[in-house]
Amino acid sequence: MSGERHVPVLWMEVMEYLAVRRGGTYVDCTLGFAGHASAIAKALGGAGHLIGFDRDPEALELARARLATLAGELGEAMPKLTLIHGEFSRVAEFVKPGELDGMLADFGTSSMHLDQAHRGFSFQADGPLDMRMNTAQELTAEQVVNQVDENDLANLIYELGEERRSRRIARAIVRARPITTTAQLAGVVRSSAPAMKGDKIHPATRTFQALRIHVNGELDEIKALLENAPALLKPGGRLVLISFHSLEDRLAKDAMRDGKEAGTLEVLTRKPVTAGEDEVQRNPRSRSAKLRAAERIELTGVDRTPLRGAEKMKARQQARQR
Ligand SMILES: C[S@@+](CC[C@H](N)C(=O)[O-])C[C@H]1O[C@@H](n2cnc3c(N)ncnc32)[C@H](O)[C@@H]1O
Repeated sequence: MSGERHVPVLWMEVMEYLAVRRGGTYVDCTLGFAGHASAIAKALGGAGHLIGFDRDPEALELARARLATLAGELGEAMPKLTLIHGEFSRVAEFVKPGELDGMLADFGTSSMHLDQAHRGFSFQADGPLDMRMNTAQELTAEQVVNQVDENDLANLIYELGEERRSRRIARAIVRARPITTTAQLAGVVRSSAPAMKGDKIHPATRTFQALRIHVNGELDEIKALLENAPALLKPGGRLVLISFHSLEDRLAKDAMRDGKEAGTLEVLTRKPVTAGEDEVQRNPRSRSAKLRAAERIELTGVDRTPLRGAEKMKARQQARQR
C-alpha cells in the first residue's frame, strides 16, 4: 500500500513540542511511513542527524524510500540518516548518554498493519492470525490463541484489552480451537460476547488489542524506552510521546511524573494534547491520540532545587544555545 494514505497524527503539535534545533540529533522511535520523520528532517538541515527505528521491515523500507525521495528534493539540506531495523527498546545501544536534542515515539500500529489482511491485525478483513510487527520474531497470535491456557488467556484479554467479558471469551476460544484466521476469531468473540446496546466498537476490538499488545510485547517495549530516554537527552532536549490507548498513556504519564520527581524532566503538557475536530474529521485515527511532552533538565549534581520563573527561562535558553 502507498505511504500517501498514512497521515501523521498531531504533526503540528509534534513539531511545536519537539522544537527541532537546526543541526541537532534526533531519534524517531517509530518511523512508520516517515511522516513525522520527514518534517523533522526538513527542520534539521544538512548539519543534523536523524536516527530512525522501525521493527517492521516493510515499514522500514517504505520509510527509507520516502526519505530517499525527500533527500532528492532537499539536496545538501538533507540531514544525515541512520535507519535501524529493530525495537526502540534498544535505543541506548545506538545513542550515547546526553547525545540527543529530541526523541519522538508515536506508539502502536500503523494503518499498513490494519489494512493488509495477510498481517493478521484486523478483524475487518480475513487473514492468518499473525499480528507480528517484526516478522522476524517467532511468537504469533495463532500460537497464543491456540496454546495459552484458558485462565491465562482470560487474564491477558482482561488486562491488555480492558475487556470485562474476558472469561466468557476465553472459554469460547478454548472450545473453538483450533482457530487459525482473524475472521474465525472475530466470529467466536462476537458470538460469546455480542455487541451491547450503545457499543460503538466491534465486539472483538478489545480482544484483538490484547493479543496484539501481548504478541509484540508492546508495554515492555515502552517501559524500556522510557527508562532510557531521560539519560539520552541533552539538557533542554525534548521527549514527545503519542499514545493511542489508556495503557500506553498511563506509562507515558507515569514516566513523566517520575522524571519530574527525580529532577530530570520538566513536563510541558499538564494535560495530554489531543487532536482538534478538523484533524479528527480528516483522520479518524487521531481521535484517540494523546500527546505528552517533557524537557530534559540539567542536573548539576549539587543543587536539584527546581529553578523558577526567569532563572528557569534563562537556563533553558542557555541550554538551547549550547
Ligand atoms: C503509528 S506508526 C508511526 C507512524 C509515523 N509516526 C509516521 O509519521 O508515519 C508506528 C510504527 O512504529 C513501529 N513500531 C511499533 N512498536 C515499535 C517498537 N517497539 N520498536 C520499533 N518500532 C515499533 C510500527 O511497526 C509502526 O510502523
